[in-house]
Amino acid sequence: MNPKRWLALILIVAVVAWVGYDSMQGNRDEELMRDLTKAQQQRQVGESVGPSLPEPPRGMVVNEIPGNIWFVGKYEDGGGIEIPFRPGLFPEKSADVNPQHQNPGFVGPQECQECHRDKYDSFLDTAHFKTSRPVNETTIDGNFEPGSNTFQTSDRNMSFEMLHRGDDFLQRVHFFDWSFDVPMEIIMGSSKMAQTYLYWHEDGLYQDNVTHITDGNQWINSPGYIDGDAAYARPIPQRCLDCHMTYFDFRGKKNRYTPGSLIMGVTCERCHGPAEQHVGFHRDNKDALEAVGITNPADLERQIQMDICGQCHGGSRGLKGDALSFRPGDRLDDHYLPPDDELEVKNSVHTSNQINRLSQSACFLQSQMTCSDCHDPHHNERGNGRLFSSRCMTCHENESDCGFFPQQGVDFAGNCVDCHMPRRPTERLRLESIEGDVFPPLRDHHIRVDEMATQRFMSGLKSKD
Ligand code: HEC
Ligand code: HEC
Ligand code: HEC
Ligand code: HEC
Ligand code: HEC
Ligand code: HEC
Ligand code: HEC
Repeated sequence: MNPKRWLALILIVAVVAWVGYDSMQGNRDEELMRDLTKAQQQRQVGESVGPSLPEPPRGMVVNEIPGNIWFVGKYEDGGGIEIPFRPGLFPEKSADVNPQHQNPGFVGPQECQECHRDKYDSFLDTAHFKTSRPVNETTIDGNFEPGSNTFQTSDRNMSFEMLHRGDDFLQRVHFFDWSFDVPMEIIMGSSKMAQTYLYWHEDGLYQDNVTHITDGNQWINSPGYIDGDAAYARPIPQRCLDCHMTYFDFRGKKNRYTPGSLIMGVTCERCHGPAEQHVGFHRDNKDALEAVGITNPADLERQIQMDICGQCHGGSRGLKGDALSFRPGDRLDDHYLPPDDELEVKNSVHTSNQINRLSQSACFLQSQMTCSDCHDPHHNERGNGRLFSSRCMTCHENESDCGFFPQQGVDFAGNCVDCHMPRRPTERLRLESIEGDVFPPLRDHHIRVDEMATQRFMSGLKSKD
């Protein structure tokens, strides 16, 4: 077997073992008893739902790693499976778990509808709103029709089949002559680039192995996954939800959450603060015209305003303490560690650091510019080059401010951003597929004269003629 794959497998097992070790606090015996009871309950549930899946056939290596992770492999071939549930079972979400923390007042966007109708309605169409949501027929992308619902890895004995059964969406893993199912329950990603899927096992959240990429409507391996493996034991850490959800109750351990507590999407309250008091006050005081108990970012000084966006658009910054402790008006540095070294964050976080890039621009340094000069977070304005260019011209007045103006055949007013803020592939969001790695391009927020982008733009014009 190829040594690279061995190394990869060992790495995975090591990571999984570490995660397992990490979640091994508390009374071991108590946990063991709990797991045994749960496993028994699950077996019953599995049987009542449908025909139970076969146990892994003989000839496979099945190892249990501490922390309830199972590894199934055929060593001579190299492909492997990691799952956080016993082979032969179906993962099952805990029901009726009590939250461990008091919700500090997050109520969810639907509570804003009655008084901020326009903002609410337009907000539903934004990437922020859609960035995490429950899986259902209208939200999930990808093809579930037999014939187009499969994903074959480079290992011919490992493939995936995406299934739609009643209300359920499943990934069926085929490994030699064994197969098993894992549900897709939560979508992460607005579909702008991709959707990846999470599922519950007990109160743990895990990522599914197969992701859907919007470009080309393809099923591929989730970012950072090794082609030829089926990795279903990758835990979803707090920081991941901190950037992609509004609220969740975390249960101490790495990927443990209270299932009923999630407020999905990046919604109003991540930029305006928990609104329970605001909503309560204005429901009781219908005539009050002055807002109470809510933050308007426009009232904050520039850096503090940008720090709101910096929770999620400031590159890879670890949490200093608990997730969700930041409130609009706070300083980012009080809640998040400094950005990591670029190499280290490859694949761990995939957003470019817009704060950092923008802050190097002459526009930013010589004005009071904030993110809101170009972005209205209440509307989906994606792809509207003319609108974004019109925002440049709130400061630059008109196209003749451009030192390159005029050029034959160039519509300057519609294209400021293509020459001065070009899209570039980013190493941060690496998706692996058999055809090779995919790097979705992002806008460079360092606004400047960019000869390469200009050349590309001009030759693009020529090739259109
Ligand atoms: C019962 C009515 C009501 C509800 C519900 C409500 N608001 Fe408001 N909100 C108001 C009023 C009244 C104002 C003050 C007038 C204005 O700015 O529109 C206001 C103002 C605001 C402002 C501007 C604050 C400022 O200082 O300029 C924000 C931000 C805001 N609301 C956010 C929210 C969010 C987020 C929600 C939902 C979680 C929400 N509101 C729910 C009534 C309401
Ligand atoms: C990604 C961050 C973000 C999200 C999400 C967001 N807002 Fe805002 N909101 C802002 C910023 C920034 C401003 C100030 C804009 C400016 O500079 O004028 C603002 C301003 C407002 C205002 C007062 C100014 C105005 O235009 O009336 C209200 C009311 C408001 N938002 C309500 C909402 C509601 C309701 C939602 C959810 C449906 C929401 N916002 C979601 C960032 C956000
Ligand atoms: C709690 C995390 C969080 C905060 C706070 C946040 N964002 Fe985002 N933002 C995201 C995520 C996650 C995405 C990617 C959504 C997707 O495509 O799934 C995103 C996407 C965007 C996009 C791309 C939208 C599109 O349709 O292409 C813009 C622009 C943006 N954010 C601007 C802002 C601005 C400006 C602020 C501050 C006012 C802000 N964000 C605050 C998490 C956040
Ligand atoms: C530091 C904040 C941050 C963390 C942590 C983070 N993301 Fe993201 N994610 C973003 C932002 C921002 C984008 C949009 C890319 C951009 O515009 O820069 C994004 C994009 C995505 C997309 C593509 C969405 C689309 O269609 O545009 C997926 C899928 C995704 N993230 C999943 C995850 C998962 C799963 C985790 C945790 C394992 C995670 N992210 C951790 C901020 C974050
Ligand atoms: C908030 C005001 C503001 C906005 C909005 C703005 N700029 Fe600027 N920009 C400035 C200022 C101030 C300067 C520095 C003085 C100058 O060169 O005019 C500048 C400088 C520049 C420069 C010269 C950079 C250099 O390194 O010499 C370019 C190019 C530029 N802006 C392009 C843009 C583009 C493209 C947009 C829209 C995507 C934009 N600007 C939006 C204020 C702004
Ligand atoms: C001078 C204008 C301008 C400013 C200021 C600005 N952006 Fe953008 N941003 C853009 C343009 C243009 C795009 C591309 C929009 C499109 O094509 O849909 C963009 C795209 C994005 C995206 C989507 C990812 C991508 O690359 O396509 C995110 C996230 C984002 N901006 C975040 C921010 C944040 C956070 C700030 C403040 C730190 C900010 N932006 C400030 C102009 C700006
Ligand atoms: C086809 C590419 C292209 C487009 C479109 C374009 N620019 Fe430029 N811009 C350039 C180049 C190249 C320069 C450098 C010109 C020089 O000084 O040699 C430049 C220079 C600038 C400067 C610096 C001015 C100076 O001479 O120092 C500003 C400001 C600017 N552009 C703003 C804009 C704005 C605003 C728009 C949209 C209305 C825009 N540009 C559209 C390519 C472009």
